[in-house]
Amino acid sequence: MERQMCFLILSVLLLTVLNSALAQTKPSGVELGAALTLRPTFSGSITGIVWKLNGDLVAEWLNNEFEYYATFRDRTTLDPTTGELVVKNVAVADAGLYTVEINSNVQSQKYQVEVMKKVSKPTVVIRPLTCNKDAESCSLACVGETKDAGTVTYSWREDDGEWKEGKESRDIMNDPVIRKIRTFSCRLKNAISVNESEPHENPFFQEKHLIWPEGFKFRSALSLSHIHEGSERVNTQSNDVVNIKNTQSYSGQQCENTWQQHSLSKLL
Ligand SMILES: *[C@@H]1O[C@H](CO)[C@@H](O)[C@H](O)[C@H]1NC(C)=O
Repeated sequence: MERQMCFLILSVLLLTVLNSALAQTKPSGVELGAALTLRPTFSGSITGIVWKLNGDLVAEWLNNEFEYYATFRDRTTLDPTTGELVVKNVAVADAGLYTVEINSNVQSQKYQVEVMKKVSKPTVVIRPLTCNKDAESCSLACVGETKDAGTVTYSWREDDGEWKEGKESRDIMNDPVIRKIRTFSCRLKNAISVNESEPHENPFFQEKHLIWPEGFKFRSALSLSHIHEGSERVNTQSNDVVNIKNTQSYSGQQCENTWQQHSLSKLL
């Protein structure tokens, strides 16, 4: 007898747990001014429907009669065979928790409705405004209209690569990896829309990727100028201009920290 009691209690507990797991709240986003459609997950014959928003009556179908309440009048329809509720021209005040009673039973499926605007087309903005190819690092911002758009996520794309979720802004370093990227694009997304920017030129982009070996020495055709065999450090700075640091002596004199710019094509 005691064992049976135990089993009963356990079953009741299990059922309670199961029931609360099944009781779901479905989030749904709807655009301001658009139509909201909520469809109950009920199969069987329906004899009565009552929809509520935050506990207040929205619409009902009881004893073969329709009733629509408050601001829902004239823009709401209820389908008595499926229980589907359609509200046109949705306003901010229509947001909240919708519940439905079918045949006098409150359904476990609830609907959390968020009313929002679509995101606009963003643009990639480079900061600071003075950012150029000689800077060490700059930052990119994804700028668009996200007011009243709810939760917005940001993604970034390098050239035609994959979209990767990130933040509203990101830093870029002037390093060999970044210099290979031609353009950056960004994308805004919320529950009801997605829109992407035009690709923006990478300020650090370099057509040629010259990687000079450590301790690289070159024999220059410009030996008539002040550059000699033994110039060691070469940094590529743009498409075809190199900076050369001459660490060798010239005519017996030490030329220290002499940086000169030459066109790469002249040197090679
Ligand atoms: C992106 O937004 C612009 C205006 O901000 C709009 O004209 C365009 O249709 C949108 N594109 C998409 C794919 O929603």
